Amino acid sequence: MNLYDDEARADSYAAVGFEGTYHLASRDLPALLAAHVEGNSALDLGCGAGRSTRLLTRLGFTCVGVDISAAMLERARRADPEGDYRLVPDGDLSSLGERRFDLVLAMFPLDNVATVERKESFLAAARGRLAPRGRLVCVVSSPELYLHDWLSFTTLQFPGNSTARDGETVRIVMLDGPDRRPIEDTLCTDETYRALFAQAGLTLLETARPLGLPTDPYRWVSEERVAPWTIYVLGPG
Ligand SMILES: C[S@@+](CC[C@H](N)C(=O)[O-])C[C@H]1O[C@@H](n2cnc3c(N)ncnc32)[C@H](O)[C@@H]1O
Repeated sequence: MNLYDDEARADSYAAVGFEGTYHLASRDLPALLAAHVEGNSALDLGCGAGRSTRLLTRLGFTCVGVDISAAMLERARRADPEGDYRLVPDGDLSSLGERRFDLVLAMFPLDNVATVERKESFLAAARGRLAPRGRLVCVVSSPELYLHDWLSFTTLQFPGNSTARDGETVRIVMLDGPDRRPIEDTLCTDETYRALFAQAGLTLLETARPLGLPTDPYRWVSEERVAPWTIYVLGPG
């Protein structure tokens, strides 16, 4: 069961942009993409309600957004009727034909891909869509996300998070949207991500862990000390 195949969850997620803690998932992306990506075709893999796709479009990319949740895609189309949003089966991008992209962005789907096997097929599918000099950018929740309170999230009601091991369920509540039901993610350590990338034939080019800055327009909670997100920039080969 995909957590995001749920009307109330999709409504809540669609109401959230890149404010608060999510600011740190988007603030440094333009510079990272400018440094690593040549060309302007992009696949937003796990586009959800289209927040990340619209960000890429604003940055000048021509995007296709794909997701396994019809509920999330419906919100993406509503917010961006001109956009190209497509429903795909888990790990199967064959409906895209032979198309390859200068950029494949996977912003947060990997948090919800529960097993190592499914993560492997997700990354293999993503790699298979890269142009020869294309780049895969994965934005994931850092393991520390589940151990602190944040401007936009709370985790302290879930003491089990602190003993969770790689591959186990961790819980978090989003504070910015109306749906306060816990989100269940799967913990994945940096070490495991690196092993999965290598196994998928991907070379890690840069890792970013953006911290909150005093110049950001927010009163940060943990964000200046601990990085909530990890951004991996990967190339084929
Ligand atoms: C947390 S949302 C993030 C959406 C969007 N990228 C953003 O940043 O707003 C994660 C999305 O990934 C999707 N997802 C999970 N597993 C996926 C898979 N194997 N292939 C494509 N999408 C997937 C979920 O349905 C959900 O819409």
